Amino acid sequence: LRSSQAGVSLPCLPRVPVLGSLLHLRSPLPPHLLLTHLSRRYGPLFGLYAGPYFTLVVSEASLVREVLLQRGKEFAGRPKMVTTDLLTQGGKDIAFADYSPLWKNHRRLVHSSFTLFGEGSSKLQDIVREAADSLCEELGSLRGQSSDLSPVLMRAVTNVICRLVFSSSYQPHDPELLKVMDYNDGIVQTIARGGLIDIFPWLRIFPNKDLKKLKECVSVRDQLLRKKLQEHKMTLTPGEPRDLLDALLIGQMKGSGGDDDITEDHVLMTAAEAFGAGVETTSTTLLWTIAFLLHHTQVQDRVHAELDECVGRDRPPSLSDRSSLPFLDAVVCEVMRIRPVSPILIPHVAMQDTSLGGHTVPKGTRVLVNMWAIHHDPKHWDEPDRFRPERFLDSSGKRTTPASFLPFGAGPRVCVGESLARIEMFLFVSRLLQRFDFSVPSGASLPDLTGRFGVVLQPQRYTVRVTPRL
Ligand code: HEM
Repeated sequence: LRSSQAGVSLPCLPRVPVLGSLLHLRSPLPPHLLLTHLSRRYGPLFGLYAGPYFTLVVSEASLVREVLLQRGKEFAGRPKMVTTDLLTQGGKDIAFADYSPLWKNHRRLVHSSFTLFGEGSSKLQDIVREAADSLCEELGSLRGQSSDLSPVLMRAVTNVICRLVFSSSYQPHDPELLKVMDYNDGIVQTIARGGLIDIFPWLRIFPNKDLKKLKECVSVRDQLLRKKLQEHKMTLTPGEPRDLLDALLIGQMKGSGGDDDITEDHVLMTAAEAFGAGVETTSTTLLWTIAFLLHHTQVQDRVHAELDECVGRDRPPSLSDRSSLPFLDAVVCEVMRIRPVSPILIPHVAMQDTSLGGHTVPKGTRVLVNMWAIHHDPKHWDEPDRFRPERFLDSSGKRTTPASFLPFGAGPRVCVGESLARIEMFLFVSRLLQRFDFSVPSGASLPDLTGRFGVVLQPQRYTVRVTPRL
């Protein structure tokens, strides 16, 4: 037991030398469900040892707000891991870099670059709408055949990021686009299996197929992005950024030459991260949305009716329609509540000695925020396991945001891509449902909604019949 609150000990899982509490974490359950299960026995704040690392697990909304918001800065560190170090040139990105003055500069620059192309910018809306249109064309050409939508959705979202980051726009089978999707997939698959090597870095001395694959994919990625970076540097007009890469390069060049300035490698890693953090998350949330609509046909009917009434069929929906489509917006929120794609966020680390829920927390402690538990806490959600979009509407039918709904995290480490992701979700879902009806192919079963835990929480593969609406 590590610490106490007015004499009350913090519950902690038993541990043995070297392995820590790992023997107690062996379970067929995926991590978010296992931690939720353990929180019923050990309480909303308990400790465990992931090998040598003391780790707190937080499963209650007020404690989560303390970690992310009230003490957000104190808990804004990230653990150093073998796999993510390989992925990010030792933390030259945003998501896995430790909190530092350089990181703050970097994040501020990324944020302002995103804002340039984000909310309120017609450019981003155009990019997403064009991607949604070509997605609809592809789906239309299926002519009602049943299909697994995962590759087409992934391609559509990848195309948005390619346009946004380096202004390339690809036809569906362009070899460069396929290359981007291939290395991205390789990275996602191998990172998801990183597990033990991140807890015991010395395991690296043994041959490891996954690490080898990860290195290969990262090298292909960096080669391609370095080429884009060089092309951008040659054609850049300061003051007129064409895309995210331009905006980041301009910001990097404006640096004062001090130790806290970002380098060209940081620009490269940021571009890489837009793919790593922005593709799998968004396309998986789209897949979950369709899976839930297949289960709840009356919800799909209501979204269709809302779209017909407020937008009609003659023009594509735009961001300015969002306030008149509260039910559609509520459906997207309910999907992100019931199946958060990042159910335990990214681990946080205490940057200094601090406290949580009145317990002393030593510097270096890792913190896992169990957002799954928060999104399914019966104290805050009525029948949390039921898919009920209405919970995001007030009595007059307007969209509301309950305090325990944090699919993007909160505070200094909140998702940098939140507004981009929300724009994408709204424009893709509204366009898809304006044009199509989604149903279970005859003879097929409804999608399994349990979820597979990897880099993100994904639905099991499923097929769907996409029929144009008459
Ligand atoms: C971090 C969710 C899309 C970039 C995160 C975190 C969550 C999250 C939960 C971790 C917060 C924490 O550790 O406290 C989502 C969801 C998305 C999405 C649900 C889509 C539905 C995107 C997109 C981008 C992006 C489109 C960029 C193109 C990032 C970055 C971080 C992050 C850079 C790290 C922030 C930091 O550590 O300071 N996201 N994300 N995300 N996300 Fe997203």
